Formats: sequence, structure tokens, C-alpha cells
Amino acid sequence: MPESRCLQGIWSSPWIFIFAASGSAVGLGNIWKFPYLIGENGGGAFLLIYCACLLLVGLPILMAEVALGRTVRSNPIDTINDLSERRVISRFWVLVPWIAGLTGFLILTFYSVIAGWSIGYLERAISGDFVNISQVDAVRMFDHLLASPGEMLLWHSIFVALVILTVGQSVTRGLAALVRILLPVLIVVLLLLAGFSLEEGYSLKAIHFLFRWSWQDVTFGVVLSAVGHALFSLSVGMGAMFAYGAYMSKRMSIARACSAVVAIDLIVAVLACLVIFPLAFAFHIDLDSGPSLAFVSLPIIFGSLPAGQLVGGFFFLLLVIAALTSAISMLELFVAWLHEKFYIARFKAALLLGGAVWFIGIAVLLSFNHWDSKVLFGLNFFELLDKLTSLIMLPLGAILLSLLVAWFIPRTVLRNEMITRQVGHFHIWYNILKYISIPVLVIITLAGWIGV
Ligand code: PFF
Repeated sequence: MPESRCLQGIWSSPWIFIFAASGSAVGLGNIWKFPYLIGENGGGAFLLIYCACLLLVGLPILMAEVALGRTVRSNPIDTINDLSERRVISRFWVLVPWIAGLTGFLILTFYSVIAGWSIGYLERAISGDFVNISQVDAVRMFDHLLASPGEMLLWHSIFVALVILTVGQSVTRGLAALVRILLPVLIVVLLLLAGFSLEEGYSLKAIHFLFRWSWQDVTFGVVLSAVGHALFSLSVGMGAMFAYGAYMSKRMSIARACSAVVAIDLIVAVLACLVIFPLAFAFHIDLDSGPSLAFVSLPIIFGSLPAGQLVGGFFFLLLVIAALTSAISMLELFVAWLHEKFYIARFKAALLLGGAVWFIGIAVLLSFNHWDSKVLFGLNFFELLDKLTSLIMLPLGAILLSLLVAWFIPRTVLRNEMITRQVGHFHIWYNILKYISIPVLVIITLAGWIGV
């Protein structure tokens, strides 16, 4: 397909793809969600299973999504429609980009609420609310936020407005330039904080918890959580990486670029655990406490740091920007489609979708207070959306997308795409995708669903 179909232009430097894709991958999933999933699922076993999922499932599917995006250089909805109209693939596959786009959209409805909490904590950090805070007060502070729908609505609205303003512009260069600065700074700050936490907290206990293996902790439910989070964290199965693949230069090796993204994503997630766990043990914070874990532990760390007001403020600012660079990729699929197909200005498309996200987000934030009652299967609305997207829609989208790439798109088309310089690499990737990633993902997903 001609490169001119790509409305945004091709990214010239190979590094730009790595930065933009890492911008999508690194976000709240690494710093807020990963530590509490580890805490809930018993520690080291989850980490090891997660690493295996990243390598055997996440990376090959990420490569598939990027390769497909680069092959067609258009938005996924039109691409799949086009292929099915030309009878290259059956009409059934038209469903796949819709599932992918809907998953990203639904994730954003709760992601923006959590990102809103981060803006609230940025304000608290700068105001000095963390100084010498005790564990009890940190829990109280978080509970107070959850009990204040008005405040949450304010932060949620600010975050959605930022997303609309950013997605409304073209996502390419500005985004990559931002992430190019953000990522190294975020990693350095996390390293320094991890050093402090290991020094001041219960480092041996934390390291033992994080790296021990226990068979007792291994169930299909845990493996499904790990695989669901690997897809979530790599932003795979939602069309986000497809869109970025469409902007990727032909000169770049997809294998190398995607491996770099996976490595960066894992490093940030493990560093976040090394920041949170040593002090969480020292302050007897319940590791099993779910979404509150990071928001209770981090203020304690900043509260006991010299210049914690400044460092805490800076950290939450970084977190908000990281969340923003992830959030915009969740809307990119539908915004690009509305823009390319119906010539709706990007800003208007972003406003339309962002408005819907904002509206559903209100129900999410109310599920932490007024509507805390269980809606379905003993879950409130937030938990329902989280589980629906991570455990059902994401694995389903990823399975369908990789089936399409591995079994239905002609092999020769992809082979031209997988510029790994050595043909052997293409075969290794293709066979891993076909015979390992897809079967493993199908088995884990089905077994997790039926609760084996
Ligand atoms: N990968 C992001 C994170 O870990 O925070 C979350 C995410 C981004 C999910 C983009 C979905 C997506 F399309």
C-alpha cells in the first residue's frame, strides 16, 4: 500500500517509534497496577510467570500488531474492511479492530479516573500534605479522596481534557519528543527512589517476596492475570501499537524495536515494585490492598524523604505525563478512523470520544463511593470494567489479531515487513507466534475463564 495513505507522515528516526511505543506502554499499568497485582498474587511466582508471558505471548503479538500496521499504513478498521472486500480474508475479521478499539476506549474510562487520582496527589505533594505522614494518615488521605466524588470529578475532567487536547493534534513527533525526555528521567527518578526505599525499608523481605517461587501461588487464574496484564502493559490487542506501526520507518527492525519496548516496560514495572515494597513492608501496609497500594505507599516515601515535597510533586507530574502518553494511544484508533473515513477534524473526533469517556468515567468514580454496591458477579462498576477488559476483551482481541496475522494474512506480505536482517529471525518469530503464543494464550484464557 502506498506510503501516502499514512496521513501523519512516516517517522524518520527509528528511535521515534521506540519512544512513542514506550510512551504508550509505560504508564499507570507499570507503576500503579503491576505492584498491586504482584501483591495480590503472592509475589515472585507472578513476576516470573509475567516475564514468561511477556516473552512468549506479549512480544510476538506486539511484533505482529506492529508489522500489520506497517504493512498497511492505514487505520485498522479501514484496513481489515479493505482486505475483506478484496476477499483476502473473510468478513468475520472486520470484528477484530472494533473489539480492539472498544477495549482501548473502555480502559480509558477508568484509566482517566486513576490518572485523576495522580493529579490529586500531585497537588497534595506540592502542598506539603505528605510531610512526615504516618501509615494511618496515608490510608485516611486515600480514603478521603475516594469518598469525594466532586474532587475526583475535577481531576478526572482535567485529565480527559488533556487527552482530548493531545489526541486532537497529530500524535507523532511531539509525543515522541516528549517521551524521549520523560522516559530516561522517569527511570532515573525510580532508581533513586528504589535506592532510598531499599536503604530505609525492609529490603531483604521485599526482595525475597519479589523473587521467591512458590508453586502454591500458581493457578490458571494467576496466569490469566499475568497474561492479561502483559497485554495491558504492552498496550497490545487494542490497535494502539497497530497505529504506531503505521508510522514506523521501513528501515527499522521490528524485532529489535519491539524487544526494546518490552525491556523498557519491564524495567519500569520492576523498579516500581522496588520502590513500593521495601517501605510497604516496613510500614506494615497490606500488600493485598489492591488499587490503593501505590497511593498509600508513595506518600509515605515522599513524606520521609529530604525535599520530599519537591521530589513527590515531580514524581506525580511524571506519572501524570506517563499516563497521558498511554491514554492518547487508547483513543488513537477511533480518532484516526473518524478522521480518515469521515474527514472529521481530529479535534472534533477527540472531543466526541473524550466526551463519552468522561461521561462513563463518572460512573467509574462513583463506584468508589455512592455506587459502591456490587453490580454483577460481586464486582462494582470499576472492578467490572477492569476485569472485563483485562481478562476477557484484551486476551480475545490479542488472540483474534494474532490468528489473523499468523494464519490468514499471506506469509510473503509479512516477511517483507519483518526486516530483522536475518531471514532466520522471521521464521523463529512466525513459528513462535503460530505454535506457542496463540495456543498458550488460548489455553490460558479458556482455563482462566472456566476457573480451572
Ligand atoms: N500500557 C498502558 C499502561 O501500562 O499504563 C496502558 C494502556 C495503554 C492500555 C494503551 C491500553 C492502550 F491501548
